[in-house]
Amino acid sequence: MKVLVTGAKGLLGREVCRELGAGGSEVVPVDLDDVDLCEREPTLRLATEARPDAVVHCAAWTDVDACEADPDRAFRVNAVAARNAALAARRVGAKILHVSTDYIFSGREPGAYRETDPVGPLSVYGASKEAGERLVREQTPDHFVLRTAWLYGDSPRCFPATIERLARQYGPGGRPLRVVDDQRGTPTWSRELARQIARLLPTEAFGTYHATAQGDTTWYLFARRIIASLGLACEVEPCTTAEFPRPAPRPANSVLDNLFLRVQGLDVLQPWEGAWEEYVAERTSLP
Ligand SMILES: NC(=O)c1ccc[n+]([C@@H]2O[C@H](COP(=O)([O-])OP(=O)(O)OC[C@H]3O[C@@H](n4cnc5c(N)ncnc54)[C@H](OP(=O)(O)O)[C@@H]3O)[C@@H](O)[C@H]2O)c1
Repeated sequence: MKVLVTGAKGLLGREVCRELGAGGSEVVPVDLDDVDLCEREPTLRLATEARPDAVVHCAAWTDVDACEADPDRAFRVNAVAARNAALAARRVGAKILHVSTDYIFSGREPGAYRETDPVGPLSVYGASKEAGERLVREQTPDHFVLRTAWLYGDSPRCFPATIERLARQYGPGGRPLRVVDDQRGTPTWSRELARQIARLLPTEAFGTYHATAQGDTTWYLFARRIIASLGLACEVEPCTTAEFPRPAPRPANSVLDNLFLRVQGLDVLQPWEGAWEEYVAERTSLP
C-alpha cells in the first residue's frame, strides 16, 4: 500500500511513517515545507502526482492556547486543510484517515465518551478540529476519523518533556511543581497510536473511532508517574484548573471509550501505564 502521511515531521506523523514503513508500506511523508495543505490546488497536485492508496492526515495546528487567539488560522489549518486532504484523497480514489481529538467534547459528562456522544467543544482548537471532522466526512465515505488524546512521544513539546524539564529545573528540595488534578484523560504514546493506525488503515471499516490507551488518570498523577519512572527528585503538588488559568478552556473529562475499535476486534491499545513504561525503556531523545 502506498500511503501519503501529512504532518510527517510532527509528534504522531513521524511514528506513523516509521510504523507503516516497517510494515512494508511505501510511505510518502509530507510536511509544511513540502506543501501548505491550506492551499487547495497544490494539495490536489500532491495527490495526483503521488497517487497514494491512502492518506493519513496528521497535520494540524495543535497549539491550543494560540488557536484561541487566532481562530481564522485555527479553522484554516484544522478544518480547511483537512477538507483539502480529504478532497485530494477522493480525487485519486484513496481512503483517508483523519486524526482528531478529545477536545471536541465538553468534558462535562461524567463517564468515558463514546463515538456516538454529542460533541460540544469548549475551545477554538476543539471547534476547528470538530469542523475538520465534518468536512472530511462530507468529502468522502472512505474515511476513518480517529479521535485520540494526551499524546506523548519524542517531542520537546509534549507533557512528559515539560514535566522532566521543570523537575530538573526545580530539583530536590526546590519549590514544588504544581500540576492540575481535576482534568482526567488517558496518556497515549504516539508509537502505540501509530500501531493502531497501521491496524485500521488496510481495512474498510470506515467510520469514527476513539483511540487512546486503556484506563485514565489526571495530569497530576501522570506527572508523579513521570518523575518516579525517570528517577527525578522533585516535589509535586496537586492544584485545580481554576488555580492554573490558561487562555483556552480544557475539558475536565477527556476520557474516551474505544468502543467501535473494541467491538470489531480492532483495538490494539494497551493500558496507559504499560505503554508509558515501554516508552521510558525505549525513549531516545527527551531533552
Ligand atoms: N498532541 C496531542 O496531545 C494531541 C491530542 C489529541 C489529538 N491530537 C491530534 O493528533 C494529530 C497529530 O498531532 P501532533 O501532536 O503530532 O501535532 P504536531 O507535532 O504539532 O505536528 C503537526 C504537523 O503538522 C504540520 N503542519 C501545520 N500546519 C500545516 C499546514 N498548513 N500544511 C502542512 N503541514 C502543516 C506542522 O508543521 P510545523 O511544525 O512546521 O507547523 C507539524 O509538523 C493532530 O490532528 C492533533 O490535532 C494531538
